[in-house]
Amino acid sequence: MTNFRWGILSTGVIAGKFTEGLRAAEGHEACAVGSRSLASAQAFAERNGIRRAHATYEDLVADPEVDAIYVATPHTRHMQDTLTCLAGGKPVLCEKPIAVNASQGQRMVDAARERSLFLMEAMWTRFNPVIGALRGLVAGGAIGEPRHLSIHFGFRAEYDPTSRLFAPELAGGALLDVGVYCVAFASMLFGPEPEAVTGVATLSPSGVDEQCAFALRYPGGELAVLSAAVRTNTPQEAVLSGSEGTIRVPLFWCPDRLYLGDEERRFEVAGNGYHYQALEVAERVRAGEVESPLMPHAESLAIQRTLDTLRGQWGLRYPGE
Ligand SMILES: NC(=O)c1ccc[n+]([C@@H]2O[C@H](COP(=O)([O-])OP(=O)(O)OC[C@H]3O[C@@H](n4cnc5c(N)ncnc54)[C@H](OP(=O)(O)O)[C@@H]3O)[C@@H](O)[C@H]2O)c1
Repeated sequence: MTNFRWGILSTGVIAGKFTEGLRAAEGHEACAVGSRSLASAQAFAERNGIRRAHATYEDLVADPEVDAIYVATPHTRHMQDTLTCLAGGKPVLCEKPIAVNASQGQRMVDAARERSLFLMEAMWTRFNPVIGALRGLVAGGAIGEPRHLSIHFGFRAEYDPTSRLFAPELAGGALLDVGVYCVAFASMLFGPEPEAVTGVATLSPSGVDEQCAFALRYPGGELAVLSAAVRTNTPQEAVLSGSEGTIRVPLFWCPDRLYLGDEERRFEVAGNGYHYQALEVAERVRAGEVESPLMPHAESLAIQRTLDTLRGQWGLRYPGE
C-alpha cells in the first residue's frame, strides 16, 4: 500500500509534535507543510524532513499529493482552515477543541458531510493504548458500575495577554485549552450529553478563565467533577470510581499506565503517542468514511455545547461571538 501523505497546516508547537509523532506510524509521511509565511514553512520542512513547503495554507490544500490535512492553528482559526481544506477536497484532522463554539463546529460537520469528506477532532488521548485498555476494563465490569469521575488538568504558564492561552481574540482560557480533555474523558465514559452542567471560573486580567472547576451530571446519575487551569499546576490524574472498584490514570491525557485498585498496569506507547489518531484517520479515509466511531461528529458537538454552557455561566464570550 502507498504511504498515507499528510499535509501539516501551520508550523507551531503542536504541528511539530504531531509531525514528529508520525515517524512512529508505519506507512505514513508528512509530505508537505503550509504556513502563513514561506520562511516559516521552509524552516519547519527542513527541521522535519518534509519535501514541500508552501507559502500559504491555500497552496497546501491545493497540493495534489496530500491525502489529508492536520489543522494545527489556534482555536479561532479551526473553522476557517477546516472549511478551506474541505472546499479543496481534503479530509481533515482538526486540533481540539474542534471549534470556538458549537455553531462553528456544526458548520464544519455540515461541510464535511455535504462533501462526503472525513473530519475528526484531534482528541488524541482517545487513541492511546492505555485508554483502550481502560475502556475494555470498564466494559468488562472490572469496577462494577462506573459512577464518579474526578479529573484535574492544570499547568502553570507565564501570564502573557498576547499568547494563545490568554488572548480573548485567540479564544484563550483553561476550559478550551485543557478543560476540553476532561469533558471528552467524561463523555467517553458516561455518554456525550450531560443533563446538568455547573461551574465557576477565575478570570485573568485579559478576561479569559485562568482556572475553572465544574461538575457534570449524566442521565444515569453519574457525576464528573472536573477542573482546568493554565496558571496553576495541579495533579493531572483521572480517577474513575465504580460500584466495585477504582481505576486511576496518572497523566490521563497522555498516559503510559493505569492502576486498577493498587495494581499497576503499564503499556507500551510508541513514539510520542500522537500518531495513534493518524492511524485511525487513514483507516477511515481509505474506507471512504466521514467520521470515526471513536470520536464521532455528534460527540465533538456535544462536548462543545458543554463548553458553551459553562462559558455562558461565566459570561465569557470571545470577540465576534
Ligand atoms: N493535542 C495536544 O496535545 C495539543 C497541544 C497543544 C496545542 N494543541 C492545540 O493545537 C492548536 C495550536 O496550538 P499550538 O500550541 O501549537 O499553538 P502555536 O504554537 O501558537 O501555533 C499555532 C500556529 O498557528 C498558525 N497561526 C495562524 N494564525 C495565527 C494567529 N493569529 N496567531 C498565532 N498563530 C497563528 C501559526 O503558524 P504559521 O505561522 O506557520 O501560519 C502558528 O505557529 C490549538 O488549537 C491547541 O488547542 C493541542
